[in-house]
Amino acid sequence: MVSPFLPEAEKVTAVREALPSTAAGIYLNTGTAGPLPRETAAAMAEVAEWELATGRAHVALFPETFERMAEARAAVAAILTSDIDTVALTHSTTDGMNIGTWGVDWRAGDRAVTSSLEHPGGLGPLYVARDRFGVDLAIVDVGDGGDDERTLAGFDAAITPRTRLVSISHVAWSTGAVLPVARIAELAHARGALVVVDGAQSAGAMPVDPGAIGADVYAVPGQKWLLGPEGMGALWVRPGALERVERTFAGYFSFETVDGRGTGVPWSSARRFEATNYHRPSVVGLARSCGWLSMYVGLDWAYTRAARLARRSADLLAAIPGVELLTPRHQMATLVSFRIAGWTPDQALDELGRRVFAIARTLPPVNALRISVGFFNTDEEIERFCGAVAELAAHTPETLPPHRGLPLLGQDAG
Ligand SMILES: Cc1ncc(COP(=O)(O)O)c(C=O)c1O
Repeated sequence: MVSPFLPEAEKVTAVREALPSTAAGIYLNTGTAGPLPRETAAAMAEVAEWELATGRAHVALFPETFERMAEARAAVAAILTSDIDTVALTHSTTDGMNIGTWGVDWRAGDRAVTSSLEHPGGLGPLYVARDRFGVDLAIVDVGDGGDDERTLAGFDAAITPRTRLVSISHVAWSTGAVLPVARIAELAHARGALVVVDGAQSAGAMPVDPGAIGADVYAVPGQKWLLGPEGMGALWVRPGALERVERTFAGYFSFETVDGRGTGVPWSSARRFEATNYHRPSVVGLARSCGWLSMYVGLDWAYTRAARLARRSADLLAAIPGVELLTPRHQMATLVSFRIAGWTPDQALDELGRRVFAIARTLPPVNALRISVGFFNTDEEIERFCGAVAELAAHTPETLPPHRGLPLLGQDAG
């Protein structure tokens, strides 16, 4: 059983036992999707079974569903160190970034400002706003994101009086840099712009307090560092910004009271940004994963351990001749990006998968590999992974000695 008070080694063993896929390889891609807790999978299966056996149509299910949704909001709110009324459920980060971006009543010539390190989940709605409404989109070149003064000077110059929105990641998905959101938000607010933050690589990975960093809207996924199911996400909205963020989607879930005669009173909380239905097992799954993280694992322990292991990975990788680290080490969270001279990212990932069963990803936009380091990883895994990178870096794909992989049943091992 996992508990916040076990000694480190026992706790890591218990945590890994509770996250079965951490045994499937060196799990280094939570930035795409995290390992699902066994407990979450069981809770989701139980709801799915129940639905299968008794159906999804009984009226008693309505209040039950609202209860489960409230639990999920509360579980996310606890991780975002926020009040439950600030949180709405969504289906993804991208949903949240769209809700935030469309929170502005755009007029041709209005400006939106973003960084050069954004994910398509945040860029998508900005491009649509530009192409559809003639929004003037400024993309600030922030390099690797590790030079705050450069980043701030860029945003300072780009945020004009016509700027209605500043849209930025808390942690850049490509270089892993933690962007100076609080100081950018100060600039944005001083000029009347709304601040929408992509929290896909921060929520659950590091301490996050959207209010304290000046976000008006903060979008998070369920499936990454919160270790929840796919198809779920959440949106945090600053209480003072609720009326300012225009609503774009609305439906049964958006209103406290709604009728067919012209009356719809939106919720006075962030719930007004919920519009349509959710997959009930996944709502329960998100709540369970967040609860498991905060109550059984312990957020402080998870953040501290993940930060230490990620930093150690970055240090080990940076010390390997032939490896170029993209991640600014003085300003990183849990993502580490790098290139290996002589290897394409695809070739390297393939080989690392074969040699040490590493589960990571390539980053085509920056021609690099990325690892996501979690609290559930071990020092031994990080050493094994970095050892394999060193072996690759000492060779090329042509000169690398063949690895004696495990022979697969039914295959000619020769
Ligand atoms: C920074 C960032 N934003 C958005 C996304 C998209 O997340 P989602 O699938 O929850 O929309 C990702 C990950 O894929 C990401 O890394």
